[in-house]
Amino acid sequence: METEKVQPRESVLDVGCGTGQTAAFLAERFHCQVTAIDNHPIMIAKAKERLKNNTPPIHLIEGDAENLRFADDSFDLVIAESVIVFTNISKTLSELARVLKNTGRLLIIEMTAEQILPVALQKEIRKLYGIEEVLREEEWISKLQLAGFTKIEIIKTPPALTPSEILDINQSKNIQSKFYDLLDEHQQFLLQYNHLISYRVFKCHLT
Ligand SMILES: C[S@@+](CC[C@H](N)C(=O)[O-])C[C@H]1O[C@@H](n2cnc3c(N)ncnc32)[C@H](O)[C@@H]1O
Repeated sequence: METEKVQPRESVLDVGCGTGQTAAFLAERFHCQVTAIDNHPIMIAKAKERLKNNTPPIHLIEGDAENLRFADDSFDLVIAESVIVFTNISKTLSELARVLKNTGRLLIIEMTAEQILPVALQKEIRKLYGIEEVLREEEWISKLQLAGFTKIEIIKTPPALTPSEILDINQSKNIQSKFYDLLDEHQQFLLQYNHLISYRVFKCHLT
């Protein structure tokens, strides 16, 4: 985002905003008009708590990335951070293209396979994350093109994300132990397969 130069008059959509950390960052850093959506009521509740006193205010909506309730050409910048893989990818990408202004840009960071994954691993991913497929770089590009994006750039990023110290976790009460087990499984999985599964940041334009 350091190189993005978002203007205060620009409208930004953060799709799958989770607890609203990025939405808060965008509004604070760029003073732009931020809308954030997520389809999970707990995420929306946590984002609401985080963003309640935000200036400028953030428009927070419970909604589905596959069926956005915004008019065509609504946003100058659309962001999705680790969200599209959990949805019907083609449906979501065409919705993101629809709500983006012709002059706008899309920035996404998504799980990406480094090669064709063995069938057993694909099965494991389906079970652990509930996602149908992890696309390779060229498959992302082809789906982005099919959705209408013409200029697709891959932003250079470090091979692994640098862990950051997160100090503002608003943890739910009474989290069942099975969810901690799932978190452990996720962390183990990332460590074990980091040579096969990584991520890419794509910056895309419609024209
Ligand atoms: C891995 S989290 C990422 C959250 C946030 N973008 C971040 O980077 O902290 C994925 C988020 O996508 C949301 N999500 C998944 N499917 C969605 C859909 N169809 N529509 C909207 N949000 C969705 C989940 O509820 C969750 O908050």
